[in-house]
Amino acid sequence: MFGARCLLRALRSCSSAPCPRHKPSAKLSVRDALGAQNASGERVKVQGWIRSVRSQKEVLFLHVNDGSSLESLQVVADSSFDSRELAFGSSVEVQGQLVKSLSKRQNVELKAEKIEVVGNCDAKAFPFKYKERHPLEYLRQYPHLRCRTNVQGSILRVRSEATAAIHSFFKDSGFVHIHTPVITSNDCEGAGELFQVKPSSKIKVPEENFFSVPVFLTVSGQLHLEVMSGAFTQVFTFGPTFRAENSQSRRHLAEFYMVEAEISFLESLQDLMQVMEGLFKTTTMTVLSNCPEDVELCHKFIAPGQKIRTYAKKQLSNWGADLHTEHEKYLVKHCGDIPVFVINYPLALKPFYMRDNEDSPQHTVAAVDLLVPGVGELFGGSLREERYHFLEQRLARSGLTEAYQWYLDLRRFGSVPHGGFGMGFERYLQCILGIDNIKDVIPFPRFTHSCLL
Ligand code: 4AD
Ligand code: MG
Repeated sequence: MFGARCLLRALRSCSSAPCPRHKPSAKLSVRDALGAQNASGERVKVQGWIRSVRSQKEVLFLHVNDGSSLESLQVVADSSFDSRELAFGSSVEVQGQLVKSLSKRQNVELKAEKIEVVGNCDAKAFPFKYKERHPLEYLRQYPHLRCRTNVQGSILRVRSEATAAIHSFFKDSGFVHIHTPVITSNDCEGAGELFQVKPSSKIKVPEENFFSVPVFLTVSGQLHLEVMSGAFTQVFTFGPTFRAENSQSRRHLAEFYMVEAEISFLESLQDLMQVMEGLFKTTTMTVLSNCPEDVELCHKFIAPGQKIRTYAKKQLSNWGADLHTEHEKYLVKHCGDIPVFVINYPLALKPFYMRDNEDSPQHTVAAVDLLVPGVGELFGGSLREERYHFLEQRLARSGLTEAYQWYLDLRRFGSVPHGGFGMGFERYLQCILGIDNIKDVIPFPRFTHSCLL
């Protein structure tokens, strides 16, 4: 085993820098090539897929994309390079000189000295056509190919950027990242229908005995985060979540990503809402400043007129009944198409862990949802019932006392007021990009009757 210092020394000594005598062309991503400030003939190598080919008498123009940016790099080549293999969709490696472009459309271009076709593409059989803007439903039929389109490229880059921004938000705010389990033996409040996990029949252990208890795919990491809240004052998790909801709706998936946070020594919904709002705003600002072109593409072609509005909120309290999608939509519209916090739901409608407001006759719990335009519920959260006797009674009423003895223990051994929330990551992307169907913001959507690939 390495000691920490020894490990650091070993890492420093094993440099992979190339031998200075050989100076191969530097490999650049399309994004870095396009961003080169003073392109003055440096030899570079770019790898990617051809997005367009334009052949003129003496010159050949290719546009090469490698997923690093929406914009492709223009490659200018002598017509002697022209070949059938240089077709839409083929993968290529181009070496040449990076120079300033004479055209106003781009700053730099690559003057090709060598073009190697790495993999041919049968452009006629390829389901996407050059210059055609295919509807998102059409692209959905090709989950193995749709990432090669501009629109999916943009969505997936935003997804990646938003993921990193969420991690940064929590890190910068002092949260500890916890890996909550995917397989679990508790069903977290019955938040949704469960997928049961069993070994396939090929495995020798009798099916039902693998874990000795029935186990499921997680519907929420909340209860595991609450365990961690007994030792860390601020924790979060961000991972796949599963619900066997029989829904074909445009905002439900069977597998989605949820961002969840839990904060100890937190006593008011206001403080919780501040974190929710901070997460939404900071993540969105970062996405807007790091990939403006990708966001713009979505707004321009998918949701014309879409604007991100993160600056306003309204509060409604003491609503008397559960909210369905239509009510959520109505509320958001009524408040002027802005994000709306709804707080204090009737106790009878909510799970056992939500904190009793003791406000009879309404009798509500300290729950909060954030509703957003076009999507409806984006966040769900609450203060948790940290008082042993209150929780004990609620569990007893639901017949859960035995199963949740460990959860009661958390209230016996150094309980603190705490609260947390979960945000559906795909719904967040739908909201900021104006994408109507949730199946278009996840690379491989899983929903009732569909699990392609
Ligand atoms: O409101 P939910 O069910 O809350 C919980 O699971 C809490 N235990 C979270 C917590 O407090 N730690 O789910 C949270 C969010 C919803 O507001 C919604 O955005 C999203 O998860 N969500 C879904 N997204 C896509 N497909 C589904 N089937 C979803 N179900 C919930
Ligand atoms: Mg909810």
